[in-house]
Amino acid sequence: MNTEPSIGGSYWMETAPPPAPTPPPGGDLSVDVAVVGGGIAGLSTAWELARQGREVAVLEADRLAAGVTGRTTAKLSALHTLVYDRLRRTRGAEGARLYARSQTEAIRHGAEIVEELGIDCEWEEAAALTYAEDPHGLGKLRAEAEAAREAGLAAALVTDTELPFPVAGAVRVTGQAQFHPRKYLLALADDLRRRGGAVYENTRVVGLTEGEPCLLSTDAGVSVRAEDVVIATHYPVFDRALLFTRLSPRRELVVAATIDEDRAPRDMYITPEQATRSVRSAPYGEGKRLLIVTGEHFSPGTADVEERFGRLSAWADDHFEGLAFTHRWATQDNDSTDAVPLVGPFHLGSSHAYVATGFGGWGLSGGIMAGRLISDLMGGRDVEWAGLYDPRRLRSVVREGSSFLKHQAHVARHFVGDRVPRLTGPALEDTDIVPGDGAVVRVAGHSCAVHRDESGRLHAVSASCTHLGCVVAFNRAEQAWECPCHGSRFAPDGRILQGPAVRPLEKRDI
Ligand code: FES
Repeated sequence: MNTEPSIGGSYWMETAPPPAPTPPPGGDLSVDVAVVGGGIAGLSTAWELARQGREVAVLEADRLAAGVTGRTTAKLSALHTLVYDRLRRTRGAEGARLYARSQTEAIRHGAEIVEELGIDCEWEEAAALTYAEDPHGLGKLRAEAEAAREAGLAAALVTDTELPFPVAGAVRVTGQAQFHPRKYLLALADDLRRRGGAVYENTRVVGLTEGEPCLLSTDAGVSVRAEDVVIATHYPVFDRALLFTRLSPRRELVVAATIDEDRAPRDMYITPEQATRSVRSAPYGEGKRLLIVTGEHFSPGTADVEERFGRLSAWADDHFEGLAFTHRWATQDNDSTDAVPLVGPFHLGSSHAYVATGFGGWGLSGGIMAGRLISDLMGGRDVEWAGLYDPRRLRSVVREGSSFLKHQAHVARHFVGDRVPRLTGPALEDTDIVPGDGAVVRVAGHSCAVHRDESGRLHAVSASCTHLGCVVAFNRAEQAWECPCHGSRFAPDGRILQGPAVRPLEKRDI
């Protein structure tokens, strides 16, 4: 038994390494559409638009498909844990039906793209199952099966699965899919270029002026003029619609291990129990599959990540015998307060800016859906589910319920509470920071985020997140400063790893 996986990073990144980076623009640009963000939502939107003959440029702050998309579990499913029972209460029977249709349509469209472009991305048709080990969970499963059927999915409540442990029950929907997300997206990006689209990596957009045309500015001082702009940066880097009141970032851990082919589950499983457990497998050479287990979700900057990795790998080892762990990584996505992604016009006054965010961990079918929806909206075509996903939809605290209030309380606590350590936090000299760890401490009356590297040297940056000023916390397992408010992440030296922040943490002398 081996419950201590080595840190191999994302399997998807390792097995589809990025080609040489495409350089940032050498000078100012003018295009029909600028897409900010090169994950599945951004690339899918850019590809649909290029196919319709528009001149498109993708501006990616890092590398293509290397953020959330490169770290997902890569399930393409319309069954999203227990979403339908919730949707029929919050968005009505019609809302649930449109959700099911739009997600199912996205999976079908993904399959068509794979076929049309001949993409070798390990596409496998599989059933999706939401299961419960605890019999107390059966009531929720029954309600979900009924709601999913009402929404139009062929959902069945079953008790037999191929899992090597007993379940009290499971909701099962066939005809879903799983694939290698980076192989799919790198091929899509190649086809986008063949169609005349431009891709610029290592290009961080830091400013947006909406108008006719819209004007974007990059961290290298380049201006990009575009008739239309799409913000597809997971958490929007610009937030004129105050979407931050309706999005909460969620981090989730992944462990992967080899398993004999004849013992590997072929379908895709998820349970809301134990802070989520999600299971699938992927091809892994002769006679083997890679078992991919996800779970242990938490708000960035608020958990002992090492302990949670240990819990997740112990669960995997308990439930699937004889695993040999090979990889572990973490991913981050945003939950919207009403469990429906925000895809469409950016805010009430926008006519040329669009956003795609809030996929709640289901960003692969959601990203493909967003690509079609935004390109159709830009083309003036009616889409039945445009209203469902419209970011301008009226918010109702009653309808969005406790998740809205909970998120507001969490952020408010950090906005207010995080200002206290500047005055009262422990002094650096009174704090024992061991090599590899970091802490927020008081230095000369200021709050500093101090990291001690493995050689014992201290590195200090401002502890104040450059997005809206919450105080960061150190994630030792992933060697990153994380902001609990909206999920920005920074390297120990302050470099941005993940937005919405667009500026690094300032260096501090200590
Ligand atoms: Fe918003 Fe840090 S991410 S304040």
